[in-house]
Amino acid sequence: MITKSLILIMTIMAIFSTDSEAQKTSTEKKVLVVYFSRSGNTRAIANHIKEFTGGDLFEIQVAKPYPAEYRACTDVAKKEKAAHARPALKTKVENIALYDTIFIGYPNWWGTMPMPILTFIESYDFSGKILIPFCTHGGGGEQNCFTDFVKHTDKQEHKKGFLTNGEKAESSRKEVEKWLREIGVVK
Ligand SMILES: Cc1cc2nc3c(=O)[nH]c(=O)nc-3n(C[C@H](O)[C@H](O)[C@H](O)COP(=O)(O)O)c2cc1C
Repeated sequence: MITKSLILIMTIMAIFSTDSEAQKTSTEKKVLVVYFSRSGNTRAIANHIKEFTGGDLFEIQVAKPYPAEYRACTDVAKKEKAAHARPALKTKVENIALYDTIFIGYPNWWGTMPMPILTFIESYDFSGKILIPFCTHGGGGEQNCFTDFVKHTDKQEHKKGFLTNGEKAESSRKEVEKWLREIGVVK
């Protein structure tokens, strides 16, 4: 009788313990999915990652928004890149210590990361954390998007990044899942 009750309790506990997507990550630690996105492509990838890891989403937003018009935005971004600017951010991760795996996503801007990503990565202590980049582009491909990311976070452990053309971001759910399994973040 006692054994039967014990088995019943254990079965119920097992059902509830597999309920959360977050517990499917191999590390069993908290995942943060950070992204910067002007037109939604990188956000779509962030949402796919959140779906499979159960991680928390965090959007990097700049204090001074970029021009809505594409050409004007590329001009501002070009100047910021040339000036090694660090645009001020209006959003902040309250407790970075909670996370040990941090995805950081951004669009390819002029062959590299948008400058607000540099502001972000220079604002936190990532000691002991694993950083994983993801990037969407408009046809130029990877260029320096990942090498620059690794260069600017060279004290951290990294896992292979995910890259896709922005036009395919929304429909790349399966590719994202495959990549997450490949790098061992999702079992
Ligand atoms: C300021 C700016 C610069 C860009 N530079 C590049 C580039 O150098 N190479 C490229 O392939 N795409 C470039 N793009 C296109 C974006 O990388 C692409 O559309 C991306 O998917 C947008 O992501 P988002 O919707 O998350 O903002 C640029 C876009 C902007 C706004």
